[in-house]
Amino acid sequence: MARRPIVGGNWKMNTTYTSAIDLAEAVTRQLGEETAVQVVLFPPFPNLQAVEQVIAGTPFDLGAQDLFWEDWGAYTGEVSAPMLLAVGCRWALVGHSERRHLLHESDEIVNRKAHSALRHGLNLILAVGETGEQRQAGQTNQVLERQLRGSLAGVDAAAMERVVIAYEPVWAIGTGHTATPEQACQAHAAVRTVLAALYGPDVAEAARVQYGGSVTPANAADLMAQPGVDGALVGGASLKAADFAAIVQAAARST
Ligand code: PGA
Repeated sequence: MARRPIVGGNWKMNTTYTSAIDLAEAVTRQLGEETAVQVVLFPPFPNLQAVEQVIAGTPFDLGAQDLFWEDWGAYTGEVSAPMLLAVGCRWALVGHSERRHLLHESDEIVNRKAHSALRHGLNLILAVGETGEQRQAGQTNQVLERQLRGSLAGVDAAAMERVVIAYEPVWAIGTGHTATPEQACQAHAAVRTVLAALYGPDVAEAARVQYGGSVTPANAADLMAQPGVDGALVGGASLKAADFAAIVQAAARST
């Protein structure tokens, strides 16, 4: 069964209320009625609702860049799954390397967040990836396995229908040093091997694994032509509507 590619636009800590509306409008204009690819926009929390109003009625989905694992309570500064659902989010991103490294989120924290998102019916993008040193030391597959097992602990096979894995080598994020198509292909195969060990071959085969790390219109087609690369998680290039649209179109052509 063919996997539908998924392309996420991770805007990170960029855009204000008004520039988020402008960007979302430009993206929807450029993409028209694209449905071969699932497109998810991840604006910062304060701009979620504004972007939702722009994309309502389009085929595109809204996602949150993070969430907290409790639903309500005395957790200053945190945002929960019920709050995200109430403003139209259908997706949550967890495990991004910027949160793992800058904010020291462990696999255990990522796992709690994953459970909260899934319990509330959100779809999940779970990001994993090795650092440059870990790759140099030949530890890539081990790191991916550890992150996947830790982040998915207790997530059952049925819930995996709503989980997308983003393979994002840390050394490729925001650096302009994209993984080669071969490196991406190998890492995606390693991710599927772990999913097969955890959930069996059918779940592993059905699961979508997207690549992230300096994806641009220039390299998107080669990356997505690789077997096992089911779309992209795009940071910097998602802030330019034309570049993001070109990446989505490359994903559409890969189907
Ligand atoms: P980048 O970010 O495209 O700017 O490298 C990707 C990501 O962090 O998801």
